[in-house]
Amino acid sequence: MKLVSKINVLNKHSIAITLCCLLLTTNLRAQYNQLWIPDTLSGTQFNLTLQDTFKQFLPGQQTITEGINGNWWGPTLFFNKGDTVHINVINQLQDSSTIHWHGMHLPAVMDGGPHQPIPSMTIWSPYYKVMNNAATYWYHPHLHMMTEEQVIRGLGGLIIVRDSVESMLNLPRTYGIDDIPLVLSDRRFDTTFANQNQLSMEHLGDTMMVNGTLFPEYNVPAQVVRFRILNGAMERAYKFGFSDSTAFSVISTDGGLLNTPISINTKRFIISPGERVEILVNLNGRQGQSLDLMAFNSTLPPDYPGASAGIGPQFNLLGGRDFLILHLTIGAQTLNPCVTIPGSLTTNTFWSAASATNTRHIVFSDPPDSLCDPNHFGCGWFDSTFFDINTINYYINRNAIEIWELENKSGYFSHPFHMHDVQFYILDRNGSLPPTYERGWKDVVMVRKNTTVRVIAKFQDYADSLNPYMYHCHTLFHEDAGMMGQFVVVDPSIGISEEVNGIKKLMNIFPNPANDEVNVSLGIDYLSIKNNILIQNLMGVTLFELNNVPIEIKIKTTNIPNGIYFIKSFNETNSITKKLIIQH
Ligand code: C2O
Ligand code: CU
Repeated sequence: MKLVSKINVLNKHSIAITLCCLLLTTNLRAQYNQLWIPDTLSGTQFNLTLQDTFKQFLPGQQTITEGINGNWWGPTLFFNKGDTVHINVINQLQDSSTIHWHGMHLPAVMDGGPHQPIPSMTIWSPYYKVMNNAATYWYHPHLHMMTEEQVIRGLGGLIIVRDSVESMLNLPRTYGIDDIPLVLSDRRFDTTFANQNQLSMEHLGDTMMVNGTLFPEYNVPAQVVRFRILNGAMERAYKFGFSDSTAFSVISTDGGLLNTPISINTKRFIISPGERVEILVNLNGRQGQSLDLMAFNSTLPPDYPGASAGIGPQFNLLGGRDFLILHLTIGAQTLNPCVTIPGSLTTNTFWSAASATNTRHIVFSDPPDSLCDPNHFGCGWFDSTFFDINTINYYINRNAIEIWELENKSGYFSHPFHMHDVQFYILDRNGSLPPTYERGWKDVVMVRKNTTVRVIAKFQDYADSLNPYMYHCHTLFHEDAGMMGQFVVVDPSIGISEEVNGIKKLMNIFPNPANDEVNVSLGIDYLSIKNNILIQNLMGVTLFELNNVPIEIKIKTTNIPNGIYFIKSFNETNSITKKLIIQH
C-alpha cells in the first residue's frame, strides 16, 4: 500500500522529470558530481522532520527516498559537550521509525532504539545532556527489523560534538572547507523499466556514494585537511587510502581524540559499518594537483564484508575490487590555514582489565541456514539465540566496569559489534594489544572471524530498569535478523529504602506493561535465599504464585486479563512489591 501511494505521487511529477532528464542524460555520467555537504544545525533545540521524498540520483526517473528536513541524509547536528539538547523528531513518513543517537551516552529512554518507536504522524521529543567527548557521532533509524530498509531509503545524519579540549587544539574545523564529513555507503539501483532507478533492498550496493553523491568530487585547500569519515553502509567495509599513497594520520576514533595523531604506515585503513574515524591529510604545497580517495577493496581480507565479488544474482560491481570514493582537487589555501599536524591531542585514561567488576563472554556463531533469510548467504547470532524484544539478556549494575569477551566462532563472517550507552576501550585482540590507531574510545569494534576481542566499559550515570540498551552486529541485516541483544543498567541502590538484615531489596520487571510474559530479576543478594513470587490484583486476589524461584525467571501472563497488578517477591526476611501492568 505504501509503495502504491508513493508511486502515485511519483507519476504526477514524472512527465516533468523525464523531460528535464532527457536534456541531462547525454553528458551526466562521464562527469564527477560535486560532493554534497549535509546542512548543519546547531544550538540546543533541533527539529528533524522525517519525510517521504525523492532524489535525482541518476538520469531518468527520480528515486523514491526517505529524507530528513527535505534531504537524503539529514543535517549535521553540532552539539557542545555539557549542553542539554532538545530534539523534536517529527515523523511524517507513512511508516513508524525511530532515531537512535549512535555513540551517545544518554538515558536509555532517550536512546531511540527499538523500544522508542515513533508512529507515523507523531513527534518524539527526546532531550539529554551531551556527555560525550568531541568526536563524530551519527543518528539513524533503529526500528525493530526495519533498520536496514530505512537506512537504505536515506534516513540518517551526523552529529559533531565539540568540547573545550578539542577546541584548544590547532585543528581544521571549518565545516565543508577544511573539515569535511564523508559518509561512505553504497546502493544498488533497479534497472527494470517499471522500477527504474529505485533503491534495491540489497545489503551490498553496486554503486558507491559519499554523502548521497554518486561519483563525487570536491575541492580542498592546499593545507591540512580533516576528513570525518563514517562507514554508513549496510554491510560493506572500505579499505580506504589515497591513489598516490599520500600519508594520513588518524586523530579520532568513534568516541574521541586519540592521545596523539597516528600516522598509518600502510597508507590504507579499513573502516567497518558504524565506525567513524577522523583523519588529517597534509596537502600543503600541492595546489593545482588532484588525487583520489579510493577503496582498495581488492585487498580487503576475505572475511570482511565486501571482500568477495559474489556469484550469480548477487554478483556485485564493487565486491573485491578497487573503486573511487572521492576525487579531490586541491585549490588555494584559506586564510589562517593549518599547515602542520599537532604532536599530541589529549590524555585519555582508560580502565585497566584489573579494575573490571564483571566479565561477560559472548559467542558469535552461524545459525543454521534454515533460520537465516533464504535470499542471502548466512546471518549471525549471539550465544546461539536470536534477539527477543521481551528478553533482557543482561542486568548490569550502574557503575559496573565490565569486560566483554567477544568470541567470533563464525566460519564465514567478521562482525562489527556495537554497544549502546557506552564508549569502550579495546583491551586486546586475540590476547595482543590492538593497533595504536584503535587505542581510543570506541563504540563499534570489528570482531574478525575466529578471533576474540576483549573490550572494557563502565556503565555509569544512567540506570533504568525498564528501558534497555542494545548491543548488536552493525551489519544491518544481521541486526535485523536478530544478531542483537539488550541490557538494562540497574541502580542497586533504588528499591532498598528499607534494608532488612543487610539484604538488599531489588527486583526488576520487564517489560512493563507486559503482554504474554514478564521477566522478573532479583538482586544478586537473593541468590542463596529461597524466594517466592506472586502476582495479585488490586483486590488482593493472588493470580499467580511460585515458590523457591531462581533470581531470574520468566512468568507467562497470557491468562492474566488486562489491568494493573502488584508483583511481589518475598522470603523469610523481606519483601518487595512493584506495580505491574498487563496489556495484551
Ligand atoms: Cu548504529 Cu544500535 O546502532
Ligand atoms: Cu554481523
